[in-house]
Amino acid sequence: MITKEITEKLLGFETPFYYYDTEMLKEILSVVSGEASNRGFHVHYAVKANFNPVIMKIIAGYGLGADCVSGNEVAHAVDCGFEAGEVVFAGVGKSDREIEMALNLGIRCFNVESASELEVINELAVRLGKVASVALRINPNVEAHTLKHITTGTEENKFGIRMADLEKVIELLRELENIHYKGIHFHIGSQITDLSVYRNLCKRINELWKWLSDRDMEPEDINVGGGLGVSYDNPDRFPPFAEYFDIFRDNLDKRIESTISFELGRSLTANCGSLISRVLYVKPGASETFVILDAGMTELLRPALYHAIHRIENLTSDGRERRYTVVGPVCETTDTFGKHIALPETRRGDLVAIRSAGAYGEVMASRYNMRSLQPEVFSDDL
Ligand code: LLP
Repeated sequence: MITKEITEKLLGFETPFYYYDTEMLKEILSVVSGEASNRGFHVHYAVKANFNPVIMKIIAGYGLGADCVSGNEVAHAVDCGFEAGEVVFAGVGKSDREIEMALNLGIRCFNVESASELEVINELAVRLGKVASVALRINPNVEAHTLKHITTGTEENKFGIRMADLEKVIELLRELENIHYKGIHFHIGSQITDLSVYRNLCKRINELWKWLSDRDMEPEDINVGGGLGVSYDNPDRFPPFAEYFDIFRDNLDKRIESTISFELGRSLTANCGSLISRVLYVKPGASETFVILDAGMTELLRPALYHAIHRIENLTSDGRERRYTVVGPVCETTDTFGKHIALPETRRGDLVAIRSAGAYGEVMASRYNMRSLQPEVFSDDL
């Protein structure tokens, strides 16, 4: 929660900026690591959600592994204190340079998304005299019931190896000498709030585990991906970690002895971050009143890109409630944070928080309109 006391302090900073409540982040991390280890599960942090070094170092301090999707993320995770042996490298388009770098760092495994990628990793490993550990990313064709643009585990997506191609990929895997088969990997989508979809994922995992075990390919690691959604309506509510982990504990086949790991991004960092902005102008429109902020889609792209809704709070007004359309300064109509939303009477100079911006906020910032990249303020600095 952004209290009056915190607001007083935030007023001293030039806007816009990202405000991170590190205490909240630590509370979430202690809940998630406790709930996971109670059930014998491992958690990797999906670095793509927020690669701010302060945030990364805090997360590394809780002993989590890192899930990376670029060579830069791999190197950065190691720089921020994640053990190289606990770093996994996923992504449909790993370049040769990125693969070589990860091989030299000795990461835990590559999550491989195609037969051709497997061949390239083997070739590079031979050249460097290394053995690459790999997990096969399987496209389980499980619907995630989330936004279409962040669904990844159905057949029409570019991600993963289709079940139909698996037999061939396994044959190849057995032939390649500098490849060590570590296990399997899934990720069906992001911002999943209908947790029942994870039951379907468990069913697929069980079937596949049986299929692989019958072929003497029992996985050492099963990485079930991430995607646990957060409550954008209630940014102070923690994600339902216990309920989520229980689904896997209760629905995965009891005979499975593999290490079970999760790749959580949003659910770890979304809550702790807010985008703080000042109201530049309040302007009457034909059918609405616009509140124009000094932050826009360049600082938080999600509303423009996915029609995502983030809670907006006017931190400095306690006037009568009115309806406003809250927009940014960027020259795009989609630069809109909320249409006809209720806010207390709002004036130029008011401080506004756009909540749950700690995941896929700062990392997706751009310099469109030649705007500047914006700084961070941490609760510890106040
Ligand atoms: N693992 C893999 C392979 C992924 O592709 C992702 C997210 C994650 C883990 C972490 O998912 P999470 O726990 O954060 O849901 N920019 C979008 C989200 C894109 C997610 C991409 N992949 C957004 O702002 O909603």
